[in-house]
Amino acid sequence: MNIIYGIKIGFIGLGKLGMPCAEAIRKKGFDVAGYDIAHKSSDLVEIRDSIEDVCRDRDIVFVATPTPHEEGYDGREPTSHLPVKDFNYDAVKKVLTKCNKHMGVTQSLVLISTVLPGTIRRELAPLVTNVKLLYNPYLIAMGTVAEDMINPEMIMIGTKKGVYKTAYKAQQLEAFYNQFCDNFPRVEFGTWEEIEAMKIFYNTFISNKIALVNMIQDVAQKLGNMDVDKVTQALAKSTKRIVSPAYMKAGMGDGGACHPRDNIALRWLAKDLDLGYDMFESIMTAREQQAESMAKAILEHGNSVWFSSDSYKPGTQLVDGSYSLLLQHYVRKHGGTLANGIDTPVEVIVRVHESDHFTCDENTIIFDPWRSYPKAENVIYYGK
Ligand SMILES: NC(=O)c1ccc[n+]([C@@H]2O[C@H](COP(=O)([O-])OP(=O)(O)OC[C@H]3O[C@@H](n4cnc5c(N)ncnc54)[C@H](O)[C@@H]3O)[C@@H](O)[C@H]2O)c1
Repeated sequence: MNIIYGIKIGFIGLGKLGMPCAEAIRKKGFDVAGYDIAHKSSDLVEIRDSIEDVCRDRDIVFVATPTPHEEGYDGREPTSHLPVKDFNYDAVKKVLTKCNKHMGVTQSLVLISTVLPGTIRRELAPLVTNVKLLYNPYLIAMGTVAEDMINPEMIMIGTKKGVYKTAYKAQQLEAFYNQFCDNFPRVEFGTWEEIEAMKIFYNTFISNKIALVNMIQDVAQKLGNMDVDKVTQALAKSTKRIVSPAYMKAGMGDGGACHPRDNIALRWLAKDLDLGYDMFESIMTAREQQAESMAKAILEHGNSVWFSSDSYKPGTQLVDGSYSLLLQHYVRKHGGTLANGIDTPVEVIVRVHESDHFTCDENTIIFDPWRSYPKAENVIYYGK
C-alpha cells in the first residue's frame, strides 16, 4: 500500500481503540508505526519494539492506553451505594513520561484516552515538558471504530490555553483530520478542561437521554394502555426543543409553570408505580443545589442583593416556578438581604434574564450568570 502523505503518525497502545484507528489511518495513505506493551501484529501498521522507537521519527504520536475503572465500577452491578472513584491513570502517566523523554519541540504528543475534567492540567501536563501535549478524545462506538473515525461528528482538540491562533500544533492536527476524514468534520478547539468536559458530558448526556426514555418504558409497563414507542417517537420528532441546541446555554435553572412541577410530580409517580428509583429527585436536588451554590457565589461580592427580575420568563411578570425566587430564598438563607435600591443600598445586582437592562454606578457589582454583559471591573461572569 502506497504512502501518500508525508506526515508520520505514531500510536502507543494498540487495543480496541488504538489498533483500528492506526490501521484506518494507514489505509488512508499515512505512514503509521505503533507500539503496545502486549505483543501485537498487524498487516498494515509497522509494529516497533519500544516507545522510544516510535517517538524517534514521528510527527504526531497518539496515546490510546487504558484508563481503567476499579473493579465493580463498570456499571454491570449497582454502584450508587459505593464510594466514588476516579479512573486509574497509571498506564497513561507511564507512557507520557516515556514519550516526553524521547520527543522534542517539532513533534506533537496527542492523548486520546478518556480522562475526567481537570486531570490533564493536574496530573498529566506536569509530566510533559519537552513537547506540546494535545488532548484529542474520540467519540467512537465499539463495532464501528473505523467508520466513526473517518466520519466523526466532531473533532475535539484541547491545548493548555485553548487559543487557536497561536496553537500551531493544534492547527497541524486539524489539517491531518481534514486530510484523513471523509466528511470535513466540525472541529472544536478549547482548553484541556473544555475538551475533557465535551467528551465526558457527550457520553453522559446520552446516558441521561436513555435513562429518561427507559423511564417512559417503565411507566408504560406499569400503567398500561400506553405504547412507549408512540410516546418516544413523538418526542423524537420534536426537534424544535428536545433534539436541538435549545437549552444548551448554562445560566439560571429551569423555571416556569410546568418544568419544575412536572419533575416534582414525577417523583410521586416514580414512588406510586414502585419504579425502585427516582431520577427526578436527582434532577430537583441538582436544581436546588445549583441555586444554593450560585447564591453563595453572589454573597461573596456583597450582602445586599438586587435581582433584576422575579419572573421566570423575560418580559413577563410570571413567577410560577421562578428560579430567581428560589435563588432569593438561598440568598436569604445564607445571610443576605434583598435590596430594592430605595431604602436599602445595592451591593450586587443579579442579572436574572440575559435581556435585562439596568444602569448602576461602577461600585455596584453586576453578577452575570449568562456571561454576556459588557465586560468591566465590576462585572462578574459566573461559570467562566
Ligand atoms: N474502545 C473504545 O471504543 C473507546 C472509545 C473512546 C475512548 N476510549 C478510551 O481509549 C482508551 C483506550 O481504550 P481501549 O478500549 O483501546 O483499551 P484497551 O485496553 O483495549 O487497549 C489499551 C492498550 O494499551 C496497551 N497498553 C497498556 N499499557 C501500555 C504501555 N505502558 N505501553 C504501551 N501500551 C500499553 C494495552 O496492552 C492495550 O492493548 C481508554 O481511555 C478508553 O476510555 C475507548
